[in-house]
Amino acid sequence: MNIGIIGSGTMGISIAHFMAQKNHSTTIFDSSKTSLKHGKKKLLTLLSKLKEKEKYTEKEYSHILENLNFTEDIKKIKNSNLLIEAIIEDPEVKKKLFTEVEKIVSKKCIIATNTSSLSITSLASSVNENGRFIGMHFFNPANLMPLVEIIPAIQTNIKTVEESKKILQEMGKTVVTTKDTPGFIVNRVARPFYGEAIRIFEEGLANFETIDWAMKEIGGFRMGPFELMDFIGNDINYTVTKTVFEEFYFDQRYKPSFTQKRLMEAGYLGKKTGRGFYNYIYESEKNISKNRELGKNIVLRILAMLVNEAADAYYLNIASKKDIDLAMTKGVNYPKGLLKWADEIGVATIFKILETLYDKYCEDRYRPSPILRKMTKENMKFY
Ligand SMILES: NC(=O)c1ccc[n+]([C@@H]2O[C@H](COP(=O)([O-])OP(=O)(O)OC[C@H]3O[C@@H](n4cnc5c(N)ncnc54)[C@H](O)[C@@H]3O)[C@@H](O)[C@H]2O)c1
Repeated sequence: MNIGIIGSGTMGISIAHFMAQKNHSTTIFDSSKTSLKHGKKKLLTLLSKLKEKEKYTEKEYSHILENLNFTEDIKKIKNSNLLIEAIIEDPEVKKKLFTEVEKIVSKKCIIATNTSSLSITSLASSVNENGRFIGMHFFNPANLMPLVEIIPAIQTNIKTVEESKKILQEMGKTVVTTKDTPGFIVNRVARPFYGEAIRIFEEGLANFETIDWAMKEIGGFRMGPFELMDFIGNDINYTVTKTVFEEFYFDQRYKPSFTQKRLMEAGYLGKKTGRGFYNYIYESEKNISKNRELGKNIVLRILAMLVNEAADAYYLNIASKKDIDLAMTKGVNYPKGLLKWADEIGVATIFKILETLYDKYCEDRYRPSPILRKMTKENMKFY
């Protein structure tokens, strides 16, 4: 296949890496000469390191290099069968680009956007033949993370959805399909992982080191919420939360925190600036209270909020049960699918935790999804 990638930033480069590795001729265009040069250098350095580590044979390495073409001329994408846009998250800049791209590629070319937060339907409106427009949300780094969320716009035709799934599955990706709603599956369902952890910290129920310890040691998550926020960057994580909150018409469930906003304002963005919740320049001994009872309560509270999101997404037909669980295990490495996990803990137990929180705080943030109420009443399981 001929793949066209627009944008040579973090995502464009890692998607190109993946496609070239799967033996597809991949052309990368960027409107900035400097970004293109930088992206090219970054990818070539990584590939050469991987070859040194014997992740690729000499032959594989040279095939990958042959498959990669970097260009400053947008017309070079004209033979693409699939075009993936990965430029800055600005709706007007993206729409202008799509209008230009449509005039260059053939009518058969699928035009996909990798946007994390914009409406696919709104972006599709910038293309005349918009039945071939679709959302393909890859995860960072796209060459390693197996998940891709497929998001049809209202205008997307079935053929484009089926073809997109087939192409990605044949390349070995785990594909889930989701409705065009804010945060799609992962960025919506994962919000309480960060938000409820911060809330517990703000209330002084535990310090962030202890919350991270509990989520890893008792919950089985690979990283604690605060470590992960520092890793993602508090600026990026805060912006995603704020966007989801605004896009959901200010639903209290997604309300961002002052704690993270202040860190962002201070420039404490996390690992990349040497300081976030943790200090990475002067690392000190972690102050963890290894109280298992406290730890268990922390995990159950955050987990109940996560299950509530997953259940609500299922209730509102955002995606199937299977796809919601797959998205969280393959997109953000959760130890179990949340709905499967709810069955194990007991839907009634999850519902009870949420109701207790709701009674305690009288905040809409803790309202249980109607499906959990119904399932509890009827003693049902997700699977
Ligand atoms: N970074 C992530 O973890 C992540 C994950 C999933 C999806 N996304 C989405 O992927 C997209 C790209 O994100 P990123 O982190 O790679 O951004 P980035 O800032 O690293 O790179 C953006 C690139 O786009 C280029 N660009 C800007 N305007 C352009 C134009 N008109 N034509 C061609 N190139 C242009 C810039 O020069 C830059 O190289 C965004 O929509 C983002 O929401 C990001």
